[in-house]
Amino acid sequence: MIEMGEISITHDDFFHLARLAIAGQEDDVRLFVAKMVRRHRTDTPDFADRLEQLLKNQRNARSSTPLRRSSFDPAPQQSMPVDGETRLSLFRRYEDQVEQLEPLLSASLQQSFMQLIRERQQIQRLSELGLHPTRSAIFLGPPGVGKTLTARWLAAQLQVPLLVLDLTTVMSSLLGKTGANLRSALEFAKQTPSVLLLDEIDAIAKRRSDDSDVGELKRLVAVMLQEVDDWPASGLLLAATNHPELIDPALWRRFDLVLEFKLPETKQIKQSIERFAGDESLLIGRWLDVLSYAFQGASFSDIERTLQRFRRTLALGGPRLDELVEDFLRTRMPELNKEQRKAFAVLLAEKTKLSQRSISEITGLARDTIRKQGALPIQADTSGGKK
Ligand SMILES: Nc1ncnc2c1ncn2[C@@H]1O[C@H](COP(=O)(O)OP(=O)(O)OP(=O)(O)O)[C@@H](O)[C@H]1O
Ligand SMILES: [Mg+2]
Repeated sequence: MIEMGEISITHDDFFHLARLAIAGQEDDVRLFVAKMVRRHRTDTPDFADRLEQLLKNQRNARSSTPLRRSSFDPAPQQSMPVDGETRLSLFRRYEDQVEQLEPLLSASLQQSFMQLIRERQQIQRLSELGLHPTRSAIFLGPPGVGKTLTARWLAAQLQVPLLVLDLTTVMSSLLGKTGANLRSALEFAKQTPSVLLLDEIDAIAKRRSDDSDVGELKRLVAVMLQEVDDWPASGLLLAATNHPELIDPALWRRFDLVLEFKLPETKQIKQSIERFAGDESLLIGRWLDVLSYAFQGASFSDIERTLQRFRRTLALGGPRLDELVEDFLRTRMPELNKEQRKAFAVLLAEKTKLSQRSISEITGLARDTIRKQGALPIQADTSGGKK
């Protein structure tokens, strides 16, 4: 975060702006500023006004403003709904460049999303046949596997903003207000060309078990059911959850598509290591097989976090990569069962220069056990360090 007076912008935002400015992409800079106006209209209205004034002055000075997408006009037709009490915006809004986001997806998810996008591109043809495109989808899966990321990517593909309604926030406001909040938010989303993501939709279900507000909550669920049924084909309603078991089956059944996001398999683990290794991919690539094995059961965001840490440490001239990786491997061992650890010992012997002693120490297996795997010569290892 960079603090600027009373507002703060993320490093990503700042970097993005700097890149556009240096590349002389003036129109893109203006689009970006327009985005900041919208984003900060509620939290720091003075700042938003000043920015907007900048855009206006500049626009008057130019004959015309070739904004790429008219729906992204900096002066919004309708302002975003806010919580009555706190004045907090009920939405997070994303307008992303599609190439920044491409999620790594399983083949079956890839297919589903390609179809979804194709349907949107050929909406006319579908309607001539009396069909409407997929209007709603629910994403299930553990944390950090790309549910939110994919929603952003999808909206960018469809060239509309993504509005995220975080139901935990909505539900935490006073219940009497929740229904009104939810309705006004959904109404707004319906009228805005956008993809709407109801994040953590299980928040509704969780609150349902609390007796005190049963009446209001029933109404709320009823609102949701109705909305999913009636969502216009011009929009796309997405929902995401880590807790499918908490969701009312009646709600669940109403989504056109149910898509399961899983923890990455070996192939995607490899791809993600390569991607997240960035500039260090050559160096880190030497550990690719070993790291992919150790990342079994980890999420994409776990992998990203670890590789970011490696890169930061390397950039600052900290310990060598070998040491970092070895330390990391130790922390992953509790995630592997004994058979997996044995196989891992074989892999370490084949793919690295680690000594028997180090392998035994990392995997927590006795050296005898490791020798029995046939991966290492039978003679005693006295080197203590690297072979
Ligand atoms: N499939 C993926 N491909 C590439 N990067 C990913 C993927 N999944 C997660 N990531 C990385 O991890 C970050 C967090 O992922 P994301 O927020 O999409 O997870 P999520 O499934 O929505 O988790 P949660 O259930 O906690 O909301 C992303 O911003 C991205 O950097
Ligand atoms: Mg998410």
